[in-house]
Amino acid sequence: MKILVINGPNLNMLGKRNKAIYGDKTLPQLDAVLKKQGERLGVDIVSFQSNSEGKIIDFIQTHSSQADGIIINPGALTHYSFSLRDALADTGLPVIEVHLSNIYAREDWRAESVIAPIAKGQISGLGWRGYVAGLRTLVGELKGETWE
Ligand code: DQA
Repeated sequence: MKILVINGPNLNMLGKRNKAIYGDKTLPQLDAVLKKQGERLGVDIVSFQSNSEGKIIDFIQTHSSQADGIIINPGALTHYSFSLRDALADTGLPVIEVHLSNIYAREDWRAESVIAPIAKGQISGLGWRGYVAGLRTLVGELKGETWE
């Protein structure tokens, strides 16, 4: 099983960027945590970050046919990128949208996500743990785990 973990614009700056909001972990640290979780769960994690909307869409188009699900933090693309939304929807894969910060507790414009309607679910405000929770949930569902 393969899960794509995608981070959008400015998330390469984690660890430097507004730590009070986004935490002190860097993107390589976050990717390492998810890789370790992937090993525990027995799934391959393919991580990708870009500041370019087009490159993210190219990545999705190239890799989705080999993948089983997508975890994505689209950064500010969350709030306006209909082309990213279409690319994600076109994959037919389950998508979990993750935000480090609570997008509902910040500026008004952040409270709208154009991605959420095509996502299986959204995790917002749980910091790096949100990615781990999203990954475990996605893999649990894909494996058909029951709650007993
Ligand atoms: C973010 C929230 C977005 O509004 C912002 O533009 C980001 C990061 C988050 O992880 O909290 O770049 O997606």
